[in-house]
Amino acid sequence: MESLDDKSKRGRWTSTFGFIMAAAGSQIGLGNLWKFPYLAGSNGGGAFVFVYLIIVLLVGFTLMLGEVLIGRHTQLGAVGAYKKLSERWTWLGGLGVLAGFLILSFYSVVGGWVINYMVRSITGILGTADFGAFITGSVEPILYHAIFMLINLVIVMAGISGGIERASKIMMPALFIMTIIVMIRSLTLDGAMEGVKFLLAPNFSVIDGSVILAALGQVFFSLSLGMGCMITYGSYLGKDENLVKSSLATPLMDTAIAILAGLTILPAVFAFGFDPSEGPGLLFVTLPSVFSKMPFGNFFAFIFFTLVFFAALTSAISLLEVTVAYLVDQFNWNRKKATFAMTFVIFLIGAAASLGLGIWDHITVLPGKDIFDSLDFTASNILLPLGGMLMSIFIGWFWGLDNAIREVTNEGTLPFKFAPVWGFLIKYVAPIAIALVFLESTGLLNVIKKLF
Ligand code: TRP
Repeated sequence: MESLDDKSKRGRWTSTFGFIMAAAGSQIGLGNLWKFPYLAGSNGGGAFVFVYLIIVLLVGFTLMLGEVLIGRHTQLGAVGAYKKLSERWTWLGGLGVLAGFLILSFYSVVGGWVINYMVRSITGILGTADFGAFITGSVEPILYHAIFMLINLVIVMAGISGGIERASKIMMPALFIMTIIVMIRSLTLDGAMEGVKFLLAPNFSVIDGSVILAALGQVFFSLSLGMGCMITYGSYLGKDENLVKSSLATPLMDTAIAILAGLTILPAVFAFGFDPSEGPGLLFVTLPSVFSKMPFGNFFAFIFFTLVFFAALTSAISLLEVTVAYLVDQFNWNRKKATFAMTFVIFLIGAAASLGLGIWDHITVLPGKDIFDSLDFTASNILLPLGGMLMSIFIGWFWGLDNAIREVTNEGTLPFKFAPVWGFLIKYVAPIAIALVFLESTGLLNVIKKLF
């Protein structure tokens, strides 16, 4: 039988379920399991979760639908999509591809750490892990980073339905089940309720600019927004799909998994008397100590790190896919060649980022930031919010809400009750909210306040 990938060079999802699993696979990743719990831990717990939920509701869903509809309408990846809609906006797609490229370079280094932790928990030596010594090494972390990129290469090279969709359909349901198992274990520990309270009871007095900024950046990162990733995934959707349903489903799942991850990690941290504001080390330093004190700790550690690995992998393939789609759509490269080329260059930059934590830690790219942090900061805190803000401006003010809504309703054949609300959110609320947070984060808001 002829596969869908053969019919068009670009490929296509085989079903709505396939798209949802792939999009959820992209969104659910290290952002949920690694970043969300530690950000919540160091930004006041419930207060952070509260702000996060509001931003998902107002900005997250809005931009998700915006990206998916642009992709489905143009049937092209980030760069091609903007180019087709308005030649003058092509660079915005380019900015997205650049962001994806930068994110994957450090993301895949962390992906390598996760594989290392998985191996350690199978072999029962997780307790001996010295995280600091491991990640500052020059050989081992780069080797694991290479393994992680190779697995990405194999999946992305296999194409949309045969590679990305198939991998996501297996890994995502497994991930849901594994999350529940580890969460039950964690919630039944003595003293777990302290962690639950910490995560769910908001203390509004701790909400300030930095909490809001952390939450906004995290919404973009976790929902894979702001760089055309969902444009690219949307471009493999058929014209008869219901965009509203799909773009409600995956942010809901992503948010649910972030909360479940918080309910898995923080109760365990509290039960064993660790500090929730440990920061990035929460997953790699605190958690292994927690597992080592738990009955059957190695077993749960193995399930847990396998889950983290699945999540990281299905996200990384979406980042690689954005850069590959660029070469396929714009330069007519075949998928094999494009995937090889991108994997190789990303491997090299990632290797530099990894060395930047060790022997190259004296090299700073952005002031005071090593290579790894510079990549993360430039992409996550600047390019993603900027890309999301400009996309909402593009849809709301240039391409036009009428065109957008015609696409969402499949030329008026599907109902879209919330069209006016969505239009208001994407035209006014999203760009203004992002701009304010962005100006605040770069310190520009203070400069402007002084001017007036
Ligand atoms: N959302 C993923 C996570 O939470 C990471 C990711 C995949 C991403 N694709 C993206 C982040 C595109 C920003 C943009 O781990």
